[in-house]
Amino acid sequence: MSDRGNFGSRLGIVLATAGSAVGLGNVWRFPYMTGQNGGAAFIIIYLACILLLGIPGMVSEFIVGRHSQTNAARAYASFSRGKAWGFIGILGILTSIIILGFYAVVAGWCLYYLGASAFGQLKGDATFVQHYFQTFSSDPVKPAVLGVVFILITHFIIVRGVQNGIERASKLLMPILFVLLLVLVIASCSLPSASRGIEFLLKPDFTKVSPNVFLEALGQAFFSLSLGTACLCTYASYFTKQTKLLYSATQIALIDFLIALMSGLMIFPAAFSVGVQPDSGPSLIFITLPNVFQQAFSFMPTLGYLISIMFYALLVFAALTSTISMHEIGTAFCHEELHITRSKAAWILTVACSVITIFCSLSVGKPDILQLWGKSLMGFCDFITAQVMLPTGALLTSILVGWFASKAIVRDEFTNRGTSNSKLFFNLYLFCVRFIVPVGILLIFLHEFEVI
Ligand code: PHE
Repeated sequence: MSDRGNFGSRLGIVLATAGSAVGLGNVWRFPYMTGQNGGAAFIIIYLACILLLGIPGMVSEFIVGRHSQTNAARAYASFSRGKAWGFIGILGILTSIIILGFYAVVAGWCLYYLGASAFGQLKGDATFVQHYFQTFSSDPVKPAVLGVVFILITHFIIVRGVQNGIERASKLLMPILFVLLLVLVIASCSLPSASRGIEFLLKPDFTKVSPNVFLEALGQAFFSLSLGTACLCTYASYFTKQTKLLYSATQIALIDFLIALMSGLMIFPAAFSVGVQPDSGPSLIFITLPNVFQQAFSFMPTLGYLISIMFYALLVFAALTSTISMHEIGTAFCHEELHITRSKAAWILTVACSVITIFCSLSVGKPDILQLWGKSLMGFCDFITAQVMLPTGALLTSILVGWFASKAIVRDEFTNRGTSNSKLFFNLYLFCVRFIVPVGILLIFLHEFEVI
């Protein structure tokens, strides 16, 4: 593949993988999922999913991708020495298209909030802020246009091959996002009655754990780690032979968790303080944050103003590094399989995702139209990907790597041909991938459907 190297500098590829993981999944989805599922107990289950299923799952995708060095579908087919497994890659590509479709809607909301805060439109009490979001998000035109604009921005970055620049920028911007989150955590915790929010996040109440919570935590873990879309597989196809797979997966997973936890600590103290319901759903961060920027910085409103702009800008950037990864999976596939230029391949993805974005956006805030199985189209796309398609992708990958692939190849990839990682780690990994991951995911599926 002559222009495979175009994707980015080989050095920055692990960073790009981290950029794919950290995004709206951490800052937007994690708080609202936690809020809907009772707080601390959800977080504990979520962490268990990351450690027991997420990290081994990531390593497995890395192994398939790095060994095969090609697009997701071909990687799975060649790794298993049989075409049949290639469908895992296809499933991953399909999943990432649907995710990009609804993700872009939320990314568009962030873009809008960046402009709205810059123009000082988000000033008012909690009721005003809530009303503002409802009015904007249910508008038939603006959010849909912004969602499509977001996909187009992603498109041009991919086609121009400027991911290198994005990677370089993320080396600087990601730490800034981290520091800003820290500032906002402190600001949020300083609001009156914030302690109730902290308690909600850190003091588990297991009586609130319904069967559903396990699948939601699993879905959230996979969504946040970009696991099960073959995205990690595609990125790993650009890894070097020296990249330590277990080390990289663990590092990315822990950073990802930390950012999610900090987002929770930024949202809930403020939500409890201003009276926003923790189970408000996808609107949660949008109806909470403007209150933090105003109230916690009332001693110096200009500072609050500047921080709000910086925060939304960084959120847009974090979302962009994730949308690039989702777009890249399908683009690499169409380019290499259909033998068309990268630009044409990228257009196919852009058009397909934009259609989903437009319909998802139209379905927000209109309970009676564009519904599927009792959910808005947006909610349905979120559910079917995070809670069905991602776990299925990860389940099949672990069965392939654990049971059907050549153990020698898996070992070679895991240990970088015997140069890193002890035998103990390899055996532990193999045990997880053969037993813990498939059984864990299956049990959670069965539990959800109340079979057990
Ligand atoms: N992990 C990304 C986030 O947290 C979302 C994502 C999911 C990206 C699947 C790629 C593939 O925002």
